[in-house]
Amino acid sequence: LILPPFKNEGYIDPSNPEVRKKMKEALEKVANEKRDYDLLIGGKRYKTERKTRSINPSNPEEVVGTTSKASRELIDKAIEVAWEAFETWKHTPVEERVKPFLRAAQIMRERRYELDATMILEVGKNWLEADADLAEAIDFLEFYSREAVRYASQQPVVRIPNENNELVYIPLGVGAVIPPWNFPGAIMVGMTSAAAVSGNCVLLKPASDSPIIAAKFVEILHEAGLPEGVVNFVPGSGAEIGDYIVEHPKIRFISFTGSKEVGLRINELAAKHQPGQKWIKRVVLEMGGKDAVVVDETADLDAAADGIVASAFGFQGQKCSAGSRIIAVEAIYDELLEKVVEKTKKIKIGDVRDPENWLGPVVNESAMRKILSYIDIGKEEGRLVHGGKRVEGLPGYFLEPTIFADVDRYSRIAQEEIFGPVTAFIKAKDFNDAIDIANCTEYGLTGALYTKKRERIEFAKKVFHVGNLYFNRKCTGALVGVHPFGGFNMSGTDSKAGGRDYLLLFLQAKSISERI
Ligand code: NAD
Ligand code: ALA
Repeated sequence: LILPPFKNEGYIDPSNPEVRKKMKEALEKVANEKRDYDLLIGGKRYKTERKTRSINPSNPEEVVGTTSKASRELIDKAIEVAWEAFETWKHTPVEERVKPFLRAAQIMRERRYELDATMILEVGKNWLEADADLAEAIDFLEFYSREAVRYASQQPVVRIPNENNELVYIPLGVGAVIPPWNFPGAIMVGMTSAAAVSGNCVLLKPASDSPIIAAKFVEILHEAGLPEGVVNFVPGSGAEIGDYIVEHPKIRFISFTGSKEVGLRINELAAKHQPGQKWIKRVVLEMGGKDAVVVDETADLDAAADGIVASAFGFQGQKCSAGSRIIAVEAIYDELLEKVVEKTKKIKIGDVRDPENWLGPVVNESAMRKILSYIDIGKEEGRLVHGGKRVEGLPGYFLEPTIFADVDRYSRIAQEEIFGPVTAFIKAKDFNDAIDIANCTEYGLTGALYTKKRERIEFAKKVFHVGNLYFNRKCTGALVGVHPFGGFNMSGTDSKAGGRDYLLLFLQAKSISERI
């Protein structure tokens, strides 16, 4: 099978009147859907009494949709059905396996506005963030399909006389896919499609704040011809059914993206051998970040300030890649801070149905409370120079973009992931001190350095210890295939989503030798 070379999906232009018209129509349509989604297990739908309500954080009175919640019995059923489907799916030739995923990418292009609108309403992404999320989801489908073909092709082994030798990659079995809500399209689609296109069968347990976009994706996969039982949709609360899935002896692998706390718990529970379990569970864990943007005295400060605002406040700072620490050398510290504050003052905040609003709400009430409690801690630990409050007069969970200055490198707001529109300026003596500060957290996901000095770029390449390092640009916005994504230390297992190593996490290699 020969597919055209992979190319990243482009974005919509919200300033185009035609785009505005289509998006407004889609927003209205999706807001009125208010559908109740069933579980999908082996092609059969299951309705349960208990529901997850997905609400619009711009206006929490609006319900975007609901889903049934999986019980333990239904999880057992889904695992059983998935193993039955695996018997056929694992032997399905790769040419057939990739077809539903490529077709799903096409359907997602056709339903782009509706899916963008779903994310705008379900998690409060602005138009551009929602569309970038969708484009990334499409990229994952296209990229991993090509990767599946590559791994199914002949693999290089050393030739010796009198033997035919080969190495083939085979899938693992049935696994759990547990994504976060903050890239409700891209990460959910990427994690699910990577595992399934490799020949595995999965239980997809979406995040409770974003089950509707996941339900739509599962419907798209089945419309695209994915055989029943390959992807099973089992929404439910992580706290209620998460441990049960992770500890289940028939689960072969767990692909998780989310917080450090939940990731470490999964790691621990999955490591324990259960009666009847025939394997060591494979665990892929992508977790949080406390990412730094470093600026030295040679940098273009306007470009740095633009990059800082985008990194710190894009999608309300709710990205694992968010620039939550700004490390500036003494010589330009005050000037940079002033520029960032000036740019931040211009940010438009409000309901993201309006494309003029750049900063939307945080995802839910408990996230808002947690962020506000970190802002209180920040007031003790640093100097509040901008923001610091909930936005008054709006019904949603809107927080002002918040900047603290003169923060100590070891303080809590410089060490703990806040996951909201809050960033901390830290003063460094010089460039070397700045890199030391950048490396002084337990995380290691993304980082950026603004400098004009080539030798500093080369030095940072060696010592700035993060999975995704950027120079003279923001530290968010990794592109599939271009910037394989994943972090070091407490940021996770460095799986490098969107890279050539990623599918290996869902495969095992078999060496086959025949004497001739
Ligand atoms: P979370 O850890 O609260 O939840 C993630 C998923 O785990 C959800 O589906 C949730 O329902 C489920 N879950 C919760 N408890 C569980 C349990 N006991 N067992 C099994 N599953 C359980 O994280 P979140 O709030 O959804 O996402 C935000 C976090 O994700 C942040 O820390 C962010 O940095 C991180 N993140 C990391 C990456 C990355 O690539 N490194 C990307 C996006 C988000
Ligand atoms: N992959 C996302 C980014 O790079 C998290 O911002």
